[in-house]
Amino acid sequence: MGSLSKGESVLVTGGAGFIGTHTVLQLLREGFRVSIVDNLDNSVEEAVDRVRALAGPDLSKNLHFHLIDLRNKEALEKIFSQTRFDAVIHFAGLKAVGESVAKPLMYYNNNLISTINLYELMGKYGCKKMVFSSSATVYGQPEKIPCVEDFELEAMNPYGRTKLFLEEIARDVHKADPDWRIILLRYFNPVGAHESGQIGEDPKGIPNNLMPYIQQVAVGRLCELNVYGHDYPTKDGSAVRDYIHVMDLADGHIAALRKLFSTENIGCVAYNLGTGYGTSVLEMVAAFEKASGKKIPIKLCPRRPGDATAVYASTEKAQKELGWRAKYGIEEMCRDQWNWASKYPYGYQRRP
Ligand code: NAD
Ligand code: UFG
Repeated sequence: MGSLSKGESVLVTGGAGFIGTHTVLQLLREGFRVSIVDNLDNSVEEAVDRVRALAGPDLSKNLHFHLIDLRNKEALEKIFSQTRFDAVIHFAGLKAVGESVAKPLMYYNNNLISTINLYELMGKYGCKKMVFSSSATVYGQPEKIPCVEDFELEAMNPYGRTKLFLEEIARDVHKADPDWRIILLRYFNPVGAHESGQIGEDPKGIPNNLMPYIQQVAVGRLCELNVYGHDYPTKDGSAVRDYIHVMDLADGHIAALRKLFSTENIGCVAYNLGTGYGTSVLEMVAAFEKASGKKIPIKLCPRRPGDATAVYASTEKAQKELGWRAKYGIEEMCRDQWNWASKYPYGYQRRP
């Protein structure tokens, strides 16, 4: 990917989080100026410091961090009034499915109000280019695989509903004012870490997702992995997902920005970011054991309510229109995630 930036300025919400940190690093390396807005609800400032260190002294001069909750419109407006942004990448949001079922209003409040504030201020300050973090969750329980962008959309839980609503809001924003250029990126299952092992995923509490859970078993923080479902109609009975390396995902955002800057009438358009390959839970466990040299004890458990049998992406549209495709496979994802886990078994925190 050739360098594209002419020093454009990008606001990255949620830039202290898992996908945000990896993307910010790539943006800096591509020559963008980056302002992060994050309330550190699910992240720590140490992660931003690590990005600065990886970027080096010259590039990290182009990175600014603002500790702000996007729902605080006044504070957010101050940032817009001080800096002219060419585009926004909007990662910020709450993302735990189970928590969203227990606390739906918290999810609607955070994810919807944040995003509405952002669109209003972007409109007011004339920045009408948006890359939005959507999710494969909007495909619900897909009837067919691979998932293609023009499938019917469906929400399975309040978290998924926020993504569905926010996709609809984006389409309406563009319909009302065709000057807007909006790309909705539907991520499949982001895993892995930066190859340095200095930044990676650091969930608070017991992880909900497969790979962080496996990682914590491998470093001895948890004793065994519950495998949810062993009677699915798949190759080995466990569920199948499309895991994608977070660095591939980060590059997908650069490709999306390139598309926004170069395409006048792009409108509001969705792209899958996945590899197009399905991997089962048991295959993932085996791959992580191989990469780490650690045994991951498993317990076969009933299916997790709401889980789909098999989900993976059609990658054609992103490949054709964004010129982007994933480079890494399961082996590299497990290698890099293990590198991060073995260097920092307690993530950004110190060992308790
Ligand atoms: P993350 O929790 O690591 O990062 C999100 C960041 O947003 C955090 O740093 C958090 O502190 C911040 N944030 C949340 N609410 C905020 C608010 N009101 N104001 C300011 N900052 C706020 O999550 P991630 O894995 O990096 O995910 C980024 C985005 O991608 C999210 O929108 C998520 O829904 C979406 N996504 C993630 C996955 C996944 O599996 N990781 C899959 C599909 C989609
Ligand atoms: N799984 C286990 N044990 C665990 C955790 C997960 O067996 O401890 C299984 C799940 O049952 C599922 C697979 O591993 O079959 C993947 O589960 P994840 O929770 O890692 O990922 P999901 O595909 O369920 O969901 C994730 C995000 C959603 C997002 C979706 C699509 O959590 O927010 O990917 O991008 F919407």
